Amino acid sequence: MSNFEKKKKKKHQSNIDFKFMSFFFKVRDMLKSPVIKIEKANMKPGDKVLDYGCGPGSFTLAAAEVVGPSGKVYAADINSLAVKKVRKASSKKGFKNIETIQTDCKTGLGNNSVNMVMCFDTFHDVDDKESLLREFHRVLKPNSSLAFDDHHLNEDEIISKVTENGLFALTEKKEKLYLFAKR
Ligand SMILES: C[S@@+](CC[C@H](N)C(=O)[O-])C[C@H]1O[C@@H](n2cnc3c(N)ncnc32)[C@H](O)[C@@H]1O
Repeated sequence: MSNFEKKKKKKHQSNIDFKFMSFFFKVRDMLKSPVIKIEKANMKPGDKVLDYGCGPGSFTLAAAEVVGPSGKVYAADINSLAVKKVRKASSKKGFKNIETIQTDCKTGLGNNSVNMVMCFDTFHDVDDKESLLREFHRVLKPNSSLAFDDHHLNEDEIISKVTENGLFALTEKKEKLYLFAKR
């Protein structure tokens, strides 16, 4: 079994756990629309966005709406259930600007190819954080942002983990959303 297969197996939630998480997020999204966070991140029509750790796709679908047909959202997750769920929701809603990627780190996207990476509630779960930050840095265009939140980590942990290798600098904090610029 390859390392990716081993990690996939370890990280895969059971169907029941994934369904429970999806239901919980549905309720969360009814209480507070995901579009609010997307707008706080300053996403614009035409942007190309990577939603890393997309889960059932709350922020992928909201971002697809905001970036519109001239933009693109890449929805990446280690879990095949997440990828399938996003594909299904995307085709049900008729979005043509969403592409899914199953991965534990490398996205296969080009260098300097996206305007924004969203990493919401995922980073705490990633084993190789430094490689993931390097991947975000590689795919982001110059002067573009990593929009980040993670309620499993406190503010000091978030800022130190994301900035410690010098790839990103904190530019803005809006409530629990942190915006880091690519250096
Ligand atoms: C708590 S969910 C958050 C989903 C979504 N970002 C949201 O906030 O609604 C975390 C997601 O990160 C994914 N994940 C965990 N480790 C990962 C990794 N190394 N690479 C890609 N996805 C990962 C999980 O499979 C899960 O779908």
